[in-house]
Amino acid sequence: MAEPKENLQMEKIVSLCKRRGFIFQSSEIYGGINGFWDYGPLGAELKRNVKELWWHAMTRQRDDVAGLEATIIMSPQIWKASGHVDTFSDPMVDCKGCKKRFRADQIEPQSGIVYHFSGAYEGSKFNPLLDQYQTDFRDAVKYKVQQFAEIYKKNADPAEASEQTFNALLKFQSQFQTEYAQINCPGLSKLHKEYSEAIENKCNIPISVLLLPGKPSESAHKIAMQFYQQRGINTPNLLDERIEKVENSTRFCNECQSELTEPKPFNLMFKTYVGPVNVSALDYKPDIDPKKVEEWFKAFNEGEKNIAYLRPETAQAIFAQFKNVLETSRQRVPFGIAQVGKAFRNEVTPRNFTFRSREFEQMELEFFIKPDEAIEAIHGSVATLETTDPKSKTPDPQPNWGWQAWHQYWVEERVRFYEGIGLSRATLGFHKQTPAELAHYARACTDILFKFPFSKKDEQGNVAGDELEGIAARSDFDLSQHQRFSGKPMGVFDDELRAAWAKLDEAKRKDLWQRYFQNRKNYLEKSGVESKQAEKDATDDANGLAKGQYIPHVIEPSAGVDRLILALIANAYSEVTETDDKGKSETRVTMKFHPRVAPIKVAVLPLLKNKPEIVKKAEAVRALLRPWMNVFYDEAGSIGRRYARQDEAGTPFCVTIDFDTLGEKPELLDTVTIRFRDDGKQERLKISELLDFFLSKIR
Ligand code: GAP
Repeated sequence: MAEPKENLQMEKIVSLCKRRGFIFQSSEIYGGINGFWDYGPLGAELKRNVKELWWHAMTRQRDDVAGLEATIIMSPQIWKASGHVDTFSDPMVDCKGCKKRFRADQIEPQSGIVYHFSGAYEGSKFNPLLDQYQTDFRDAVKYKVQQFAEIYKKNADPAEASEQTFNALLKFQSQFQTEYAQINCPGLSKLHKEYSEAIENKCNIPISVLLLPGKPSESAHKIAMQFYQQRGINTPNLLDERIEKVENSTRFCNECQSELTEPKPFNLMFKTYVGPVNVSALDYKPDIDPKKVEEWFKAFNEGEKNIAYLRPETAQAIFAQFKNVLETSRQRVPFGIAQVGKAFRNEVTPRNFTFRSREFEQMELEFFIKPDEAIEAIHGSVATLETTDPKSKTPDPQPNWGWQAWHQYWVEERVRFYEGIGLSRATLGFHKQTPAELAHYARACTDILFKFPFSKKDEQGNVAGDELEGIAARSDFDLSQHQRFSGKPMGVFDDELRAAWAKLDEAKRKDLWQRYFQNRKNYLEKSGVESKQAEKDATDDANGLAKGQYIPHVIEPSAGVDRLILALIANAYSEVTETDDKGKSETRVTMKFHPRVAPIKVAVLPLLKNKPEIVKKAEAVRALLRPWMNVFYDEAGSIGRRYARQDEAGTPFCVTIDFDTLGEKPELLDTVTIRFRDDGKQERLKISELLDFFLSKIR
């Protein structure tokens, strides 16, 4: 299954990934499976490094984040509560011509002339007949014209009369199928009968085709004819052609320009069954035997009870385990729970290599914070965070931060993470989602973008980039939903809040109570709780706040591992073409990964493989470094070729063991040459200093 070639740079990247073992097509020997990718030896190392670095930065280096590793399949109730069963869908359209499926919101607008056809009839068998028919018809028309002319001549100016007659007949001609019978012309009635039979063999499905500027009208006819051929009309004669000009229409296929179906929602979750279910019984189509229908319904209902979903995000397990983690980790709000793991989405159009896949990995943090009303009760006001200076450290979190400050903080922290693994700010971008773009649970979301080779340019030639990570403010939506659906309390108790509330003056209490009440009521009503019940529950929640209880709000930095891998590969890819004296040119690729993420950190290269003393030393160097980092040992080929191989793999350092290492020059005994990938420079270092040197570079 070939991936569409987005552009030359992407083609080179995809080819390198396969050639060097970064990424392979899943199930390639069986022709591949669309939207699934495997990571080869280098890709697996790269991915592992990225996940390790994320885990390290998000959990081990912080006091306020704990980790979780949950199952992929969970109770289907989780997905009902989260809203995924009802709303996690993309608008999908099918092309009526080429039958391909697309996401309706990804159709590029197109302009041109639309050819509408109401149907087509089978023409092959009757074409000679129709030729005859048309000749006779023309004669009949001629005869009619004469008749009309005679009539008009008697009543009006002859020139005007024939003009009118002619126009009337033109219209008449276009409707000839029905009008034909009225023409009294000898010899035509038999033909008419046969023609009528022919026309019965027709397809009444209408189709519209967009003709792009500069294309001949035949191409629209050709597409329409193919459409009818697919429906059993072998030699289609198109019916009722009508044309219309359109501008920027998204109603036509970007590939074949046929009309698209109306958008319909397509749920992206993969379904499966837990336990032994008679799946064949579910697939069985009931016939009209009432007993069998009843049996089928029974089997179907049994099956439905066992439905489960492959998780479409790792986040929900974090919400479902919130209370367990809170109690066992002895954390207090604000704190976070982090998880790395697989997620699955049955994407309508997987595309751009691994960018949009059907199976992928996420690195998600759910960071739980106090609601702004609680902050205001405790600290008097809610602090916001101005944009921070990229050159200085992100400010340390403050107790009076509201959700906006925490949101801004996490955007900054995440950008700094990307900088730390080699994605400079210049390669990144930001997109603040508009209210229409926000997911059902979010009150705000900032996407961190990366400028991928396939990212689109705007009219000024600027590239904004495509989403690498989304940092969403999810309010208290998720925990509230799980509380409602599971019946288990998800709130926390906060001493500080209770004490602070007692000291507030009456006006402030009223104001905070009212605002919290209103927010809760809005949430409940939006979630379908009937108005009176919502009022009652929101009153309980606001009374709870006054006693120090609330459901935490959430800020969620959610990153895709696979997108990050693709970004790192695209960012690292660099090539130079050199031409030798004989005019032969060679292009050399260097993958300039940051040493922290590079799949192989150090390549150990004995200068000669047939010098046992050199080999022994090289093996000792490998043994020294191996417990600490991924080391590759290579003794095959010239040293130049070995360097080139490591450049392509993205290995930042090569260590060469040569005769000087053995003491040929006594002052260089037990030293090695380090060759740096990015500038080709070389440096001599003592073997005893190697480990510290490399650790300082890769950590
Ligand atoms: N829990 C929130 C959430 O899942 P999302 O924006 O749908 O939000 C978060 O996904 C991240 O997961 C995205 O920024 C992207 O990096 C990654 N991601 C989402 N869908 C993906 C797909 N089909 N293929 C690869 N990565 C994907």
